[in-house]
Amino acid sequence: MPSTPSPSAPLFAAIYDPATAVLERALLPPHREYLASGLDGKVLDLGAGTGAMFPYFERVAGASTEFHATEPDPHMRRQAAEAAAALATPIHIESAPAQALPYGDDTFDAVVASMVFCTVPDVDAAMGEVARVLRPGGELRFFEHVVDDGWRARVQSLLAPLWERLAGGCHLTRQTGSQLVADRSFDVVEIERLHLGVTPVRPFVRGRLRRRTAVPTRD
Ligand SMILES: C[S@@+](CC[C@H](N)C(=O)[O-])C[C@H]1O[C@@H](n2cnc3c(N)ncnc32)[C@H](O)[C@@H]1O
Repeated sequence: MPSTPSPSAPLFAAIYDPATAVLERALLPPHREYLASGLDGKVLDLGAGTGAMFPYFERVAGASTEFHATEPDPHMRRQAAEAAAALATPIHIESAPAQALPYGDDTFDAVVASMVFCTVPDVDAAMGEVARVLRPGGELRFFEHVVDDGWRARVQSLLAPLWERLAGGCHLTRQTGSQLVADRSFDVVEIERLHLGVTPVRPFVRGRLRRRTAVPTRD
């Protein structure tokens, strides 16, 4: 697999927590709870950022849970490591992009993706890796912002180039929900479009996909 340079967005990493603090309190808790609800076994947090999911993992941690996280940006990863160190629950963090995961086949019972597929350079390649590291029957849970309709979509298209540079490579106009449910390695358990957020970061989709037992060969 050709290697891609690791993302490095020190300014974005420095402002991420302060910039999202209000959202973390007012908007995101039910969606982070949705992602963490009832997790069991080996869990991977894909593109963990500053570790915003970690306290939610701690709430569902038990004797049979084991938490792992990947974060390719060193500035984000340092904050994630600090967030993990403040918790009683161990969270094993690796430096790896979603399109080249450093785990064996069928390793995880669940993969959690929170506002990550907007940033990965190749969503299909990342989904191939998620399918590979999930055991058959394992779940991908996601919460992602996607392209809107009408005038809001036009605003997103206009802002997209600047936004991508300022927001660590984030794409405003992806159709992540449609792309994920079309993946032939997964069955759709549930998906919903949520009219929340503020243009240009709205609406969101969240859902759960189950890895099929027989993963079709990719073209
Ligand atoms: C908007 S942040 C979301 C962070 C975290 N998941 C959350 O819920 O707050 C997107 C994260 O994806 C990371 N990222 C960038 N490129 C990536 C890639 N190729 N694979 C996985 N994560 C990536 C970024 O470094 C950043 O931490």
